[in-house]
Amino acid sequence: MNLRKTVRNILIAIGAVGILIQFIQPVRDNPQIDPAMTIQTQMQVPAEIASLLDRGCKDCHSNATVWPFYSYVAPASWLVSYDVMEGRKHLNFSEWGKYKERKKVQKLSGIYQAVTDKTMPMPKYIPLHPEADFTDAERAALSAWAQKEGERMMGGEAEGVETTE
Ligand code: HEC
Repeated sequence: MNLRKTVRNILIAIGAVGILIQFIQPVRDNPQIDPAMTIQTQMQVPAEIASLLDRGCKDCHSNATVWPFYSYVAPASWLVSYDVMEGRKHLNFSEWGKYKERKKVQKLSGIYQAVTDKTMPMPKYIPLHPEADFTDAERAALSAWAQKEGERMMGGEAEGVETTE
């Protein structure tokens, strides 16, 4: 069989699949935001902390996702949509007010942990979002804030937020 023909057929097949998968569109919605329910309204969030949440977290943990161009191109679109849906399910700053008090303390402790351990912002998110590449000082500020807010919610108990598993 003619090699050039084989290569051509393979390329055509790949191209056809590449076009066909574009018809499988994932969810890419931004549910409406009630300003009274957001973390910015519900908690004491200084401007510099709000800015860090904005730069590093809001795309996956709020209803104000900025959907990048590649979120419109399969298969990247499926991966982005999955992360946003999962991220919102675990922690949604736009729907913070729906969490019970205990849950809020838990989420703040989770933020402290994730930011300290550098598991959040998700490492794979950073190369395409350099603004989410926090400095050590920014990480320290964000985790200290999460811990302090948790303690404040618990009435300033001496033990503070439980930050270990
Ligand atoms: C690219 C998307 C993405 C970004 C950006 C992102 N996260 Fe996440 N986050 C997720 C996903 C997906 C999960 C759920 C799966 C997991 O735990 O890995 C999650 C889980 C979490 C959890 C665990 C919540 C729980 O109670 O289960 C915390 C806390 C968290 N993220 C905090 C943050 C913070 C703080 C930032 C910003 C500094 C951030 N994330 C940025 C996608 C993201």
